[in-house]
Amino acid sequence: MREYLKRLPSQVQELIGLAGDIAEDMNARAYFVGGFVRDLILGANNLDLDIVIEGDGIAFAEKLSKSFGSKLICHRRFKTATVMIGPDLKVDVATARKEFYPSPAHLPVVSTGSLKDDYFRRDFTINAMAISIMGGNFGKLIDFFGGEADLRNKRICFLHDLSFIDDPTRILRAIRFEKRFNFKIEPKTLKYLKQAVKMKMLNKVEPQRVRDELILLLKEERPIKQIRRMQGLTGFDFIIPALSVSKKTYQLISSIEKVCSSHRIIGLWVVYFMGLIDALDLKQAKKVCDKFAFGKQNTKKIIASKRINRKFITSLGKKGIKPSRIFSLLSPLSYEVILLLKAKYNRGIIRKNIDDFLKTYSHMHLGVTGYDLQELGIRPGPNYQKILKKVFQARLDGMVKDRDDQLKLIRKIAKLK
Ligand code: CTP
Repeated sequence: MREYLKRLPSQVQELIGLAGDIAEDMNARAYFVGGFVRDLILGANNLDLDIVIEGDGIAFAEKLSKSFGSKLICHRRFKTATVMIGPDLKVDVATARKEFYPSPAHLPVVSTGSLKDDYFRRDFTINAMAISIMGGNFGKLIDFFGGEADLRNKRICFLHDLSFIDDPTRILRAIRFEKRFNFKIEPKTLKYLKQAVKMKMLNKVEPQRVRDELILLLKEERPIKQIRRMQGLTGFDFIIPALSVSKKTYQLISSIEKVCSSHRIIGLWVVYFMGLIDALDLKQAKKVCDKFAFGKQNTKKIIASKRINRKFITSLGKKGIKPSRIFSLLSPLSYEVILLLKAKYNRGIIRKNIDDFLKTYSHMHLGVTGYDLQELGIRPGPNYQKILKKVFQARLDGMVKDRDDQLKLIRKIAKLK
């Protein structure tokens, strides 16, 4: 793997050298692990560096952050830490650990272990490889479970029969990786995955853990593939039994993909989620938001998307609608809800109005401010906002152009001479 490591950016190479020296001084062993190793072999861009230490991971992270003079975040209880090397580079450090699942679908009991123990607790063979970054072993691939061969053969393969029972979120992870890499879930793994689905394991995990995996899945570049596979393998009952995903839903999701790609957006999961639950009504959507605790902002966006009614759409699609009216309809909405609308109404006047808003109206500014009103001798107060709003509407509707026009209009509104 030396050759692969040598192709990494110089800052990462410097980090590797330092990390190896620190581990050696501490008489510990350091390895790159997880998705970083997988993507290094695949030639995919990934600078999410994960280091596992056989030894004291926290002490290692402290030394590494000191030598870079960078910020350190420690989670002593889990024996993990994050070293923030730079704005685009961080390293997650973990102490090699052993995990034991006292009961299915619950968080494991963790204790210190070897690299092999650490690997046995992981999801798939392709994510269970390590690269040593120390001394004589520098660059050596450690592949206990045949991950490299599975990468070559494009297979998603679990490590043991209880994998999906221990951690049912792996059901969603298997789908996510299978479709991202265009691999196939290996037959035995698929059989056990289906069994876990039959046992409704996804309903037995804490909803927040399912939510996190669902979000990662929807953040994939073109998640429609993953959503289709979910429909075939897990269904959507685990989100809410009432959810029906029809041909119309897929048309909407495909339109969302087009909108996101035309805006060069990747990872705006909430738009896809709104598309996925398009068939739910407001009450059902609220239930889902409560169950998954999406956070205040995202919940607000999801609920807002359900409050868009026919009257709103009729207004937005009215012939001869003024730009100021388009602005007043769309500006209270989040970017995500506007993108959803754009995907839903993908032709005709509504689409044009949304595009005009996104391209032009939402970027418009006035050439005047409150200071100008003050200079004109207008008494400060709530009136300021009203006057500026009127001027802005006139600006949107093309009634005033430059600053002089705007000042003239202010005088008129405020009845000044
Ligand atoms: N992991 C696991 N089981 C989980 C979550 C994570 O075994 N339920 C392990 C895997 O070995 C994975 C690593 O933790 O490679 C890091 O997890 P994560 O960052 O979620 O995945 P990546 O493999 O890095 O994938 P991505 O490219 O999507 O970040």
